[in-house]
Amino acid sequence: MGGFRFLFVLLLAVAPAAYGANILGLFSSHSQSHLILHMSMMKALAEQGHNITVVSMMKPKVMHKSIHLIVVPPSDEKEAIMENQMTEMANQKNSIYDTMIRLLNGMSAMVESQVDLITDPRFQRIYETKFDLMFMGFFMNDFQLGVAHKLQVPVIVAWMSAPMFVIDDYVGNPSEISYVPILGTVMKRGEKVAFGKRLENFVKNIFFRVIGVIFNQRAERHYKQLFGNEPNLPSIEQLRRNISMVFTNCHLISEGPIRPLVPAHAEIGGIQIKEKPDPLPEDIAQFLDGAEHGGVLLSLGSNIKSSAVKPELVQSMFKVLSSLKQRVVWKWEDLDNTPGKSANILYKKWLPQDDILAHPKIKLFITHAGKGGITEAQYHGVPMVALPIFGDQPANADNMQKSGYGIAQDLLQLTEENFGASINEVLGNEKYKKAIGGFSQLYRDRPLSARQTVLYWTNYVLRHHGAPHLQSPSVHLNWVEYLNVDIYILVATVLTLLLLLNFVIVRFIVRKLAGKSQKSSKKVKKQ
Ligand SMILES: *[C@@H]1O[C@H](CO)[C@@H](O)[C@H](O)[C@H]1NC(C)=O
Ligand SMILES: *[C@@H]1O[C@H](CO)[C@@H](O)[C@H](O)[C@H]1NC(C)=O
Repeated sequence: MGGFRFLFVLLLAVAPAAYGANILGLFSSHSQSHLILHMSMMKALAEQGHNITVVSMMKPKVMHKSIHLIVVPPSDEKEAIMENQMTEMANQKNSIYDTMIRLLNGMSAMVESQVDLITDPRFQRIYETKFDLMFMGFFMNDFQLGVAHKLQVPVIVAWMSAPMFVIDDYVGNPSEISYVPILGTVMKRGEKVAFGKRLENFVKNIFFRVIGVIFNQRAERHYKQLFGNEPNLPSIEQLRRNISMVFTNCHLISEGPIRPLVPAHAEIGGIQIKEKPDPLPEDIAQFLDGAEHGGVLLSLGSNIKSSAVKPELVQSMFKVLSSLKQRVVWKWEDLDNTPGKSANILYKKWLPQDDILAHPKIKLFITHAGKGGITEAQYHGVPMVALPIFGDQPANADNMQKSGYGIAQDLLQLTEENFGASINEVLGNEKYKKAIGGFSQLYRDRPLSARQTVLYWTNYVLRHHGAPHLQSPSVHLNWVEYLNVDIYILVATVLTLLLLLNFVIVRFIVRKLAGKSQKSSKKVKKQ
């Protein structure tokens, strides 16, 4: 008996070894923000004991010591073009059509560098390993599905945002364009979608589908170019249907819109955020624990160093912050040259932002409105004053303010008066805390956390060597079949024929009757 128990304990102890699958992460989009999300998944899997190999174009910011990393940077020429593209896109606000046209014309470098990566000798080495599963970070690159075919492994597609039609189509997720807003259409929770909005959504849908067709032709060309020599090569369409699952970076119950999702779709929004905060460094912990009136975190990324930010501006910020009764943790690089000394301000060169936001005393986050910081504040339910300057920051700040999570103001227009007013409004008015706190509660209330979702469904696909049984039958239908257009045509035809037949019969009977009555009336006349 004791022996059995010992064996049992031993089995438990070695159980993680069961997780040692060989997993390939192919994340070839030229974007650090995509890579952070993808690597957060890989990190969770590596921590569980899987043997992870990642191929990317740049060195990731999120890493785990046991992950085998293969970095294949793009050529200098393509790199320059892509940098340009990214800045141009980031600087644009709200013009999704411009962006799409730009994508079509200028994105070739982004797509082609992902083709180059597959042919690079550094990448080719992966074929020497026997893999069990491939993750593909989606970015107009599904011609890379040929890699999974060569490796004979199931595929999970990871997408850095909420599901959109390409991702939906992989797993047969219904598009529901009558009430699921497509990029840019504003639909509020609980709203009855009026005719005009449905029309707008419908037209956008057609627009994106047309662009999709163009991208698809390019993907097929690249697929043939890369894998055309493989024996018994399936069509790219067949490989798309063979995708086991998609993981998307969203949580629609809290973020909206509410829409149907097939079982082969898993939401992993928030994967980059730690579930349990690490303990804070001693000095920060003491400083915040003793904050009788609460604490404020100020982190402007690297903006505040830039020459664009005038010293007067920093002085205005200092005056406002040093007069608060709250304690302020200020991220400041040059500790020999701080904006000024004040008992309620603690300057730190580096700080664990996520862990500080998790501290119960934190009442306000002053941020440059980077995507990562905003997500962390939303997760922890901390209202914000956003001070954006460039890139995607103004748009992020705008969305944050529209959601009621705080106030946004242009960093370069900051004065003592308007900065003080914003801070006092967000600290003094309960509505901001209530709005973001409500979101935070919904965001965290899930059957499986983002991390658990990644682990569970990845292991699920590994256990079953793919997940064909999860596949929605709609994957095999074209749009005529999917929308039952053929059946409507049949029904309409039958109805029309019946109507015609009715018409003919009625006319026949009417004629007959009319004929009889004429005859009989003639008879009457003769008599
Ligand atoms: C882990 O993956 C690497 C490929 O990156 C491979 O060379 C190695 O053999 C794998 N380890 C095991 C135990 O399979
Ligand atoms: C389809 O996926 C399965 C695993 O889910 C894989 O074994 C098979 O090779 C894939 N089929 C093709 C044609 O690549």
